[in-house]
Amino acid sequence: MSDKKLENAVPDVPRHVLRDDNKIPQLGLGTYPMDDAEAEALIPEALWRGYRLIDTAVNYGNELGVGRGVQASGIKREDIFLTTKLPGRDHGTDSVRRSLEASLKRLGTDYVDLYLIHWPNPSVDRYVETWQTMIELRDQGLVKSTGVSNFLPEHLLRLEKETGEMPVINQVELNPQYQQELLREFHGEHKIVTEAWAPLGRKTDILQHEWIAEIARKQGRTPAQVMLRWHIQSNILPIPKTSDVTRMAENIDVFDWDLSDDQMRRIKMLHTGLSGSGFDPRDHEEM
Ligand SMILES: NC(=O)c1ccc[n+]([C@@H]2O[C@H](COP(=O)([O-])OP(=O)(O)OC[C@H]3O[C@@H](n4cnc5c(N)ncnc54)[C@H](OP(=O)(O)O)[C@@H]3O)[C@@H](O)[C@H]2O)c1
Repeated sequence: MSDKKLENAVPDVPRHVLRDDNKIPQLGLGTYPMDDAEAEALIPEALWRGYRLIDTAVNYGNELGVGRGVQASGIKREDIFLTTKLPGRDHGTDSVRRSLEASLKRLGTDYVDLYLIHWPNPSVDRYVETWQTMIELRDQGLVKSTGVSNFLPEHLLRLEKETGEMPVINQVELNPQYQQELLREFHGEHKIVTEAWAPLGRKTDILQHEWIAEIARKQGRTPAQVMLRWHIQSNILPIPKTSDVTRMAENIDVFDWDLSDDQMRRIKMLHTGLSGSGFDPRDHEEM
């Protein structure tokens, strides 16, 4: 299919309004573990299929490819929502600006839409000064929205206490097996959007669960679409990763149909509390 024909057939992804009034698409494309070459080839394919939110990070080593892909797509920069993440080794007042400037250079852009602290790395204990610097970079226009990833309520409360400001987004591991209900409640109380990594349950078997398969059969959809629709109806923003263009189209086709209340209740019962990654933000160090 030509790019033009694809663009005419793609879904228009609705947006969440963040606490800072910026708007973010309700579903995006994850890019880990694409390398630069793969990202460069695949990002235009995703954009032509309607994706407008692309999630990358310094630690994925693919910002250059993501940036080239965005430029090659022919889609206007202002219509695309780009997220990148600051690595643990760059926490600290002086290093944040340097790290962001290097990301912007690789991405070939003069701002990112969303800048996240990738992990709190509490043993390093520099996430508060890092957050303060990110707010300053936002006020200077290099970043539109500031957020965090893998933060627990104790980390979020400390940010508020010491800087007076909470993030607008927290990106965390979340899927029907690991639903993070308490954290989501906390986010709701503080107007923080919950963004889900591993929304398809990478490193778990949840995508193969018989109840998901049964709901998919009844809906005439795929198991991945059922899982992603559950996120959308739960007000959670999923960023599924795929390197397969057919799956790209499949994963974004979740906006013009509904799971029933009964199907939502059944999926809620799939929670086991088992994380696929096994990473605990209290002690996981990612530099
Ligand atoms: N903030 C953080 O600490 C953090 C941590 C991990 C990930 N992330 C971000 O979150 C994104 C998503 O998480 P994730 O990649 O870990 O897990 P995921 O999106 O739950 O799962 C990705 C896996 O599912 C497969 N897949 C995709 N669509 C499918 C479909 N329709 N049917 C069957 N299988 C399908 C993919 O394979 P194919 O590619 O072969 O289709 C890939 O193996 C990452 O790419 C990254 O951007 C953030």
